[in-house]
Amino acid sequence: MSRIRSAGAAALASMSLLVLPALAQHRPHKSKPQAISEPWMNRQLSPDQRAELVLKQLTLDEKIALVHGNGMPGWGPQRPNAYLGNGGAGFVLGVARLGIPMIQMSDAAYGVRSSAANGRYSTALPSNLGSAASWDPQAACAYGALIGRELRAQGYNMTLGGGVNLTREPRDGRTFEYMGEDPVLAGTMVGNRIRCEQAQHVIGDIKHYAINDQESGRNEVNAIISRRAMRETDLLAFQIGISIGHPGAVMCSYNAVNGDFACQNKYLLTDVLKRDWKFPGFVVSDWGGTHSTIRASNAGLDNEEPLDDYYGARLKRDVLAGKVPMAQLNDHVRRILRSEFASGIVDHPTQKSVVDVFGDLAIARHIEENSIVLLKNQGAILPLNASSLRSIAVIGEHADTGMISGGGSAQVDPPGATSPPWLSHVWFPTSPLKAIREQAPRATVQFNSGSDPAAAAALAAKSQVAIVFAHQWSSEGMDLKSLELPGNQDTLIEQVAKANPNTIVVVESATAVTMPWVNKVKGIVEVWFAGSDGHHAMANVLFGKVNPSAKLPITFPLSVADLPHPHIVQPPPHAQGAAPVMKKGTDKPTFNVHYNEGLLVGYKWYDAKHKPVLFPFGYGLSYTTYAYSNLSADPQVRSVSFTVKNTGARAGVEIAEVYASLPATANEPPKRLVGWSRVSLAPGQSKTVTVAIKPLYLSVYNSATDQWKEVPGTYTLRVGGSSASLPLTASFNLQ
Ligand code: BGC
Repeated sequence: MSRIRSAGAAALASMSLLVLPALAQHRPHKSKPQAISEPWMNRQLSPDQRAELVLKQLTLDEKIALVHGNGMPGWGPQRPNAYLGNGGAGFVLGVARLGIPMIQMSDAAYGVRSSAANGRYSTALPSNLGSAASWDPQAACAYGALIGRELRAQGYNMTLGGGVNLTREPRDGRTFEYMGEDPVLAGTMVGNRIRCEQAQHVIGDIKHYAINDQESGRNEVNAIISRRAMRETDLLAFQIGISIGHPGAVMCSYNAVNGDFACQNKYLLTDVLKRDWKFPGFVVSDWGGTHSTIRASNAGLDNEEPLDDYYGARLKRDVLAGKVPMAQLNDHVRRILRSEFASGIVDHPTQKSVVDVFGDLAIARHIEENSIVLLKNQGAILPLNASSLRSIAVIGEHADTGMISGGGSAQVDPPGATSPPWLSHVWFPTSPLKAIREQAPRATVQFNSGSDPAAAAALAAKSQVAIVFAHQWSSEGMDLKSLELPGNQDTLIEQVAKANPNTIVVVESATAVTMPWVNKVKGIVEVWFAGSDGHHAMANVLFGKVNPSAKLPITFPLSVADLPHPHIVQPPPHAQGAAPVMKKGTDKPTFNVHYNEGLLVGYKWYDAKHKPVLFPFGYGLSYTTYAYSNLSADPQVRSVSFTVKNTGARAGVEIAEVYASLPATANEPPKRLVGWSRVSLAPGQSKTVTVAIKPLYLSVYNSATDQWKEVPGTYTLRVGGSSASLPLTASFNLQ
């Protein structure tokens, strides 16, 4: 565990000593509860009915025990009941006498975290952002199901995955943990991931609610944003994700929003989440993100993690004194119990087992194959022809041994390695060099690390093709200073490209990157953080066993100068020394970030400001080509129909995108994504597809009336293969 987190934890832990005796009274047994034939075990009853029946049985101490965590390894001194934990980020005691199990939580952004420390193994999937590039809800489902199975196999019954903060700021160090810049795409993908993760009988989670769009000073920053802007952007991603995935939990974020910390923000937790969206599950705090007892409880925080600074002895005291109504505590408890029943963790206790390592590798590879974006393919340099190539130069740091992964609490341990220090770069043993050698057995494949660009260029000069592996790492607790490839990588690519016109760049990146060399290389392939079998997926695309189909879930700008905020807003000096800022927040946010761009997130910003970009949102090439025709739009059922034809010689999948431009009176960005279809086509084949558009996706949020409404007038529907290439338009009127 990190030095920094441990430092912050000491303060937390000292406060928690207060309530140790109370905890000791509730020490449950680790053994499995006996079969209980009590009324709440009747599976015919709804989760609400079952939760209500349990609630009636609980003592005050049992209720309090359900609304807080019991520590996290490395987060301050160990608690007396730490032995009951499973090694994950937190756990909540159960009520063994009533058959209510403990909730064992693990981080699981792109796979189960810290497996090695636990003596176990887990599969790393492609980064969450990468998986969003597939635009494939079924792939999102497979992603979630894999994580759900591997969590249970390791003895966990709750995930801390489901990150969906919108990419409002692409330098955010956690961009790789999220699903991109469009709320409809991000919400759909995260919702399907959670739906299928939870179907494995783990409590699902969606995070970090909300507007945690930069990491710098995250414990102290106050995000200032209009209600309309947040409802139509960041919150819409959560709204869609929750409506599809029905997660048992929502994790409130560290930052403040419009003056109140998210974990005590009544507008976010009660008015929007619980009232407007009718969310029936529980709100769990981010780790150390709770700032109060009465205020947080009134605002709608249900569970404090990872300790009990505010929701242990203090909450009990305030309930006994009538400062927190019992009905309010009951609501917190009922929600937690409800999610336990709804997810099936009561009826299906976990049992540790060995995961299907090879089966899960195949799933990870398949998802990555659908997530790799072909950005440039000049002169059809790709796919490479293994039978005619005689020499290939593989260039780049670690390209002989591995591929990089994302850091922070998302970090999945590579096979055989124990949890690395908090901010270290972790390379999975997925050797691009080996994977390329396997696919090109007739070619001489030589490696150069690129530390000396001249030597790398010399190798490139004597090879038929040069493949440069470029990387950009990031982590929770930090933001990137720029979107440039770090170190000497831009120079390296320039020099290799000068030495060999047949240069291909494979980008392993956390987020968007700038590419000053874009016009000097022939091929560019974005593979993101590629996961446990990423090298095979990458090679399958380079050599044409897989025809790429993915499309960018974020815009790649030409320069950071084109972003809404030229610089990430930094915390005040007291917090600046500690990078990353992990210290527990003060009572009040100490600095503001004004998200004045409001509705103009991602492509909507570049559209509105007429700024050219490097690669637009929704863009991605294929080894075949597609033509679009025959658009018709039906206002009655709010749908569009059109024909897509595969005009090339290879089978492929085209992601056909549908955008809407709203009537001018709506005062909206020029266009918004309202739907898409993944169309699978043999060479020469045509298909007519219909995309239904949800009324919500055509609506505007009015903060005066607190309502979503379609504005009367003419809607223009635009269809094509990228946000910047929409050859078909049609319109309809809505009254
Ligand atoms: C992160 C959460 C994570 C938690 C537990 C926090 O620092 O923001 O995403 O789930 O730690 O590890």
